[in-house]
Amino acid sequence: MSIKHFLQFNELSRDELDYVFERTRWIKQQFKAYKTYHPLHDRTLVMIFEKASTRTRLSFEAGMHQLGGTAIYLNTRDSQLGRGEPVEDAAQVISRMSDLVMIRTFEQDIIERFAANSRVPVINGLTNEYHPCQILADIYTYIEHRGPIQGKTVAWIGDSNNVCNTWLQAAEVFDFNVHVSTPPGYEVEPERAGLYGTDHYEEFADPMEAAKDADLVTTDVWTSMGFEAENAERKKAFADWQVDADMMKVAKSDALFMHCLPAHRGEEVAAEVIDGPNSVVWDEAENRLHAQKALMEYLLLGRIETPK
Ligand code: CP
Ligand code: NVA
Repeated sequence: MSIKHFLQFNELSRDELDYVFERTRWIKQQFKAYKTYHPLHDRTLVMIFEKASTRTRLSFEAGMHQLGGTAIYLNTRDSQLGRGEPVEDAAQVISRMSDLVMIRTFEQDIIERFAANSRVPVINGLTNEYHPCQILADIYTYIEHRGPIQGKTVAWIGDSNNVCNTWLQAAEVFDFNVHVSTPPGYEVEPERAGLYGTDHYEEFADPMEAAKDADLVTTDVWTSMGFEAENAERKKAFADWQVDADMMKVAKSDALFMHCLPAHRGEEVAAEVIDGPNSVVWDEAENRLHAQKALMEYLLLGRIETPK
């Protein structure tokens, strides 16, 4: 059997993602009812972090524990990864001692090289280009609140970063539209986003136009991890790309607001929006746990029948 990785969102088909969401729902119900579910008993997840994290580390570590397995945390600072051991060698060794690997790193190329040398499934916990686990949770959250996302409009306001690229891939898989508005010079790069075409998104110079009639408005930090040197320049360039109450007013009246977090109130989002009635950011963060448990179960055990 070939190994299944989750390095980009579109690596799983629509059918596989629907299955993962069905499992997410069931796994979440078990968790809420305090029911023990240990399908990954004795399995080990290795988590490699080359960038900071709160949600990703917590959700994978707690999730693996809740599924009966163990999670081991490695970071660049105190492993040989930070001292120049080739990623290919690290992959050979780490994948002989574990059942599953999650990596948060810089260029996508690093995780691709790791996966090419791994005996076990590899999950992308964020790269400069993509954040597939985030969008897995985000789409699950949308469906939980509003039903199917097919045919809906998602407004992306801000940087065309890893989270934006992954929304664009998801739009192709689930057949919805993304209205993107970025400052000049920060536009979507379809090739870097790993897109099949340009049919599922439209770019708007004016963020208010992008938000108009949207079913979901979402944004992210102006400066992603790894780009800190550009912070001052970006603060100036992005000043008009804040999701505020006026922007939410032009979206549909029941539009949801999402943010992958961490957020900077007063920069990419106004406090009244992220802390307001349309915001589902806490559900979104919680669903990282449930969706990733379903993902880990799927990558290791394949399809399981869900009890009715
Ligand atoms: N959204 C997200 O991935 O958060 P962390 O950086 O805290 O993991
Ligand atoms: N775009 C952000 C997401 C953090 C979860 C970053 O890469 O820093």
